Formats: sequence, structure tokens, C-alpha cells
Amino acid sequence: MAKIAVLGYGTVGSGVVEVLNTNGASIAKRAGDTIEVKSVLDLRDFPGDPIQDKIVHDIDLIINDPEIEVVVEVMGGVEPAFTFVKKALEAGKSVCTSNKALVAAHGPELLEMAKERKLNFMFEASVGGGIPIIRPLNQSLTADEITKITGILNGTTNYILTKMSREGISYQEVLKEAQALGYAERNPEADVEGYDACRKIAILTSLAFGNTVKFEEVYTEGITKISNEDFAYAKELGCVIKLLATSYSKDGKVYAITAPFMIDSTHPLYNVNDVLNGIYVHGNVLGDVMFFGAGAGKLPTASAVVSDVVDCVKHKGKNVMTIWSSVKQELGDTFDETR
Ligand code: HSE
Repeated sequence: MAKIAVLGYGTVGSGVVEVLNTNGASIAKRAGDTIEVKSVLDLRDFPGDPIQDKIVHDIDLIINDPEIEVVVEVMGGVEPAFTFVKKALEAGKSVCTSNKALVAAHGPELLEMAKERKLNFMFEASVGGGIPIIRPLNQSLTADEITKITGILNGTTNYILTKMSREGISYQEVLKEAQALGYAERNPEADVEGYDACRKIAILTSLAFGNTVKFEEVYTEGITKISNEDFAYAKELGCVIKLLATSYSKDGKVYAITAPFMIDSTHPLYNVNDVLNGIYVHGNVLGDVMFFGAGAGKLPTASAVVSDVVDCVKHKGKNVMTIWSSVKQELGDTFDETR
């Protein structure tokens, strides 16, 4: 039996427990072992919930538990997640995370730490929620030179833009509605200013092109200045407005940007609407490939996290993530392609 710990019993953490309960038998077959959640770290208690028996409030109870072989970090934010993840790796435990802020800021260092110890640091859920995109870039598209990635990587802003486009209501009104529905955070800055999508394209670009792209260096513009007049103008041209996070390589240089673009119906991401995410990848021998689905949400995100746990258990002692180097990628400065 492989025992794991979950750091954070919020939306994704409770989803991880639910996925393992629901699909335990088929997951065990794929992992080659039964997977059991032994401990869950959270500041809160959950009286009356069966999870309460597993709740711990001290990270060291998990770090010092030799039975726990994989730690799932779903707390979000850089700290204390970074400290906890480093401690887990130092203690010989593989780590699976959904935390794009952590991966964008410290991915190469954590991958290196894992590699040195024949452990794994996995982050499928950090980009595109339930959509498989990290594993395809790491394992399936390795015969290709990736020349371009373009994604709608943020569900909140896609929901807002879709509503503004269809119903002609203002940005502020749709934002309020998205907050009431729980799609947008009370402080929506990370989504609407494009920071979330920027971190995600930095991660994908680092994987696709091998070297580390610093998210701080990716030009980033959000959706807060888009008006209904902009949508009316786009409509006249047969276009919609989408927040695209995109990168490409040309003549040995890599270019990356996160910004709103007008795209017409021939664009592969034209029909990616509401909270859905879509990611278009071009490989020099494969051609175009599209990934599409739920970019956020409890169970889709948990599905991606648990798939990483399966890999850690199945490939114990072997490195799974191999294609991201810590060498810094210099970005070119004149972005001229949007597709
Ligand atoms: N806030 C993110 C989004 C959640 O709206 O897509 C998933 O990373």
C-alpha cells in the first residue's frame, strides 16, 4: 500500500480524496499498488467529517512519517508551500502539486532537487486544470520541435469575455456576476490582470523549449480595459476577443506574451467559451494539436493531481519529468505572431 499526504483540504484537496475514494480500484491497477491518504494538513478541523481522523496541523508530522511516500501540495501560493515542498523532497518523498505560482517561481529548482534524490516533482494540474498538457509536452511530443503554443489558460477571464461578447454587458457587471457564482475570486487581480495566465504560459514555454522562462519577463496585459465598444468593433470584423497566452520560437529566439487578441472563426481557439480552457500546440513534424476541457474546478483539477500520484507510485525510484532545464531562456522582444 502506497501512503500519501495531502497539504490543504480546500476545493482541490477534498477533490483528491474524493477521486481516490471513487476510483480507488482502477487507480490501484494503474499504479500497481493501492493508494491511501494517511494524513491531511489543514489549519482547520472538520468535526463530523470522516476526514477529521486524518487531519494534522503540523507539517513535521508528515515530513517525519517514514510511511508517507508522496506528498500532494494543493495549498496554493508560494509560501509556505515552497518550504513544505522542499522539506518533503529532502525527506525522500515525491511531490505532486496543482500550484502554478510555486511551479512558475521555483519549478527548475524543485525538479533538480527531486532528480538528485531519484524522486519526482509533478505538476500536471498547474496548467489547464484537468486538461493533460504537462505530460504530453514531457512525454508524448518529444519527437517534435515545438514551434508554437497558444492557450486560453484562464477560465475566469474566458467566462467574463464570453459573457461580454454574447450579452453586451459591461466588464464590471459580468465580473460581479462571476464573483457571485464563485468563478472569480473576491480579489480577482491575478485572473483579470493576466498574471495567472502569464505564469501558466511561462511553465508551458519552459517545457516546450527546454529552458526556464521567467514569468516576470513575459509581457502581460489583462482584460480590465476591454469595453463593449471593443466587442462591437470585433463583431463587425467577424472576430471575438480572447485572452491569449502564447509563445513561439523563430530563428533560435523564443517570444512570449499574455494579452487580449481579436481572433476570427478560423482560429483554433475561437470556439473555446465560458470557463473552458483550450491549448493549441504546433510541432514541426506533428503539425497542429489541440487540448480542450475543464481548466479549473474541484474534480477535473483533482483528476490531474491524482494522475501524477499514480505516476509517482508506478515509477518509484525513476525520474518522470525530464525536459525542463534550469538554464534561463532569453526572450525576444518583438512579438509578431498571434496564432
Ligand atoms: N483562477 C484560475 C482560472 C483557476 O480561472 O482559470 C485555475 O488555475
